[in-house]
Amino acid sequence: MSNAYPITLHTYDAVVVGAGGAGLRATMGLAESGLKTACITKVFPTRSHTVAAQGGIAASLGNMGKDSWQWHMYDTVKGSDWLGDQDAIEYLVREAPAAVYELEHYGVPFSRTEEGKIYQRAFGGMTTEFGEGPAAQRTCAAADRTGHAMLHSLYQQSLKHDSDFYIEYFAIDMIMEDGECRGVIAMNMEDGSLHAFRSQATVLATGGYGRAYFSATSAHTCTGDGGGMVLRAGLSLQDLEFIQFHPTGIYGAGVLITEGARGEGGILINSEGERFMERYAPSAKDLASRDVVSRSISNEIREGRGVGADKDHMYLHLDHLDPAILAERLPGISESAKVFAGVDVTKEPIPILPTVHYNMGGIPTNYHGEVINPTKDNPDSVVPGLFAIGEAACVSVHGANRLGSNSLIDLVVFGRAVGKRVPEIVTTGATQKPLPEGYADMALGRLDKARYADGGTPTAELRLKMQRNMQTNCAVFRTEEVLAEGVKNIDEIAGGLDDIKTSDRSLVWNSDLIETLELDNLMGQAVLTMHSAAARKESRGAHMHEDYPDRDDVNWMKHTACWLDDGNKVTLGERPVHDYTLTTEVEYIKPKARVY
Ligand code: FUM
Repeated sequence: MSNAYPITLHTYDAVVVGAGGAGLRATMGLAESGLKTACITKVFPTRSHTVAAQGGIAASLGNMGKDSWQWHMYDTVKGSDWLGDQDAIEYLVREAPAAVYELEHYGVPFSRTEEGKIYQRAFGGMTTEFGEGPAAQRTCAAADRTGHAMLHSLYQQSLKHDSDFYIEYFAIDMIMEDGECRGVIAMNMEDGSLHAFRSQATVLATGGYGRAYFSATSAHTCTGDGGGMVLRAGLSLQDLEFIQFHPTGIYGAGVLITEGARGEGGILINSEGERFMERYAPSAKDLASRDVVSRSISNEIREGRGVGADKDHMYLHLDHLDPAILAERLPGISESAKVFAGVDVTKEPIPILPTVHYNMGGIPTNYHGEVINPTKDNPDSVVPGLFAIGEAACVSVHGANRLGSNSLIDLVVFGRAVGKRVPEIVTTGATQKPLPEGYADMALGRLDKARYADGGTPTAELRLKMQRNMQTNCAVFRTEEVLAEGVKNIDEIAGGLDDIKTSDRSLVWNSDLIETLELDNLMGQAVLTMHSAAARKESRGAHMHEDYPDRDDVNWMKHTACWLDDGNKVTLGERPVHDYTLTTEVEYIKPKARVY
């Protein structure tokens, strides 16, 4: 089938798929090391979803008070509800300050303290003295547009280091040979032409799959394309049941209102005028971790204390804060509140509702970014030639619940880690053997199936069914009954991919074709999210199972590994949590009750 379409062959030492914070940090690091590097991206780099990150990036710089990487490590382990791998968490928090100073030197325009240091604000779950002290001000911010600032600086750095960008190219599938990744096949969306990128190292930095849900802060482009490619290559994904709901999406619009708003003093108020977080998290209050705050809001609504005509949302008040502070530190969300809720934040509360925001699960990797496919003999077995970083990956530093501002630091620390690791294992300019016969068959078969799909269900209709099922059946609170119904529904909905209808099939390329390919990527991850959630009989982090309300460390302190075959058959397995640290300078943090 490879001959049915002309395919242009490109050869690189390293190819990065995705140009968000992680992809760009990897691209610049790889290019800087002298590797011939390409970055393939389906959107213009500075439109990648990192642009929407608001509140900041966590690192224990200690600019606003005493701080340490050990405290950051403790908070991250506790935030993860002890599902995070502690070797990887140690790596993350130790590397974080250097990674942030690098960003500063690359030109990120951080907000400043009076003394000219990087400004840091409080964020949920970030504390001092191993949870015993007051809130830490650890989140480095560029007003409330930190991701935007980072993305622009990183793109400039990638160009400076002479990498090649393939912009508005859609990656269809990886090229696999005998269990090794040899590159990726992509389509140029401008003219429909096909391209094979042969590479010694392929780095998936494709982001999360937030758009499997109906209401998400994620951009419409967040369709888990890397996860979809990994599943089709017969490799595993990990911990997909852990879906983060951000406490403060704008009611009805889903647009993000940064946690930094509460970090600057914003408070949540119910219909009784009560600051209800004092009851749920007496110490951290509105700055408890996200799973705790989202559950508390949902519970208030369930118990009839929601606001509005239908009592189905909550208020975030910023109107007691100094308008000058709002203008200086929260200009972006002040504008979003005006545009999407018609609210002047200096005078009125913002109507908010917990909204899908982040996938803790993803493509399993070690802390070098090397992709893992667990086998019976080796739970940490590495897939040669393949790397994953950013939200697409599950290192796992976030475990069952990520702390706010730990995602931006994850992007740059592990993007940088890949930039260091790949040059250690590949040789610049090494001759690469020819690609195997039929290397593009899977990608082309998939493309044809999507292009000529002439069934009875428009892509958008099937996508909506999937999104509504996930929103209803895999939400903040879960029960045995609701999860079982969700599994039955999603299996049926996934079967609907065989009855898809793609519009305007006469065209070589159109947005419906791309949306059909994206839906295929989303669907596999939606199926596995439902099955993994139904299988986990405990409550941990973002997975709140009301029939099993307690964390069960004896039976469930383990990662869920999951695979999907061609016929949508699900296989679930497990991987041990790394209960060891990276160095002897810090001890394993033992599990205990998680209260804020
Ligand atoms: O609330 C926020 O600004 C989001 C940050 C994050 O998800 O890390």
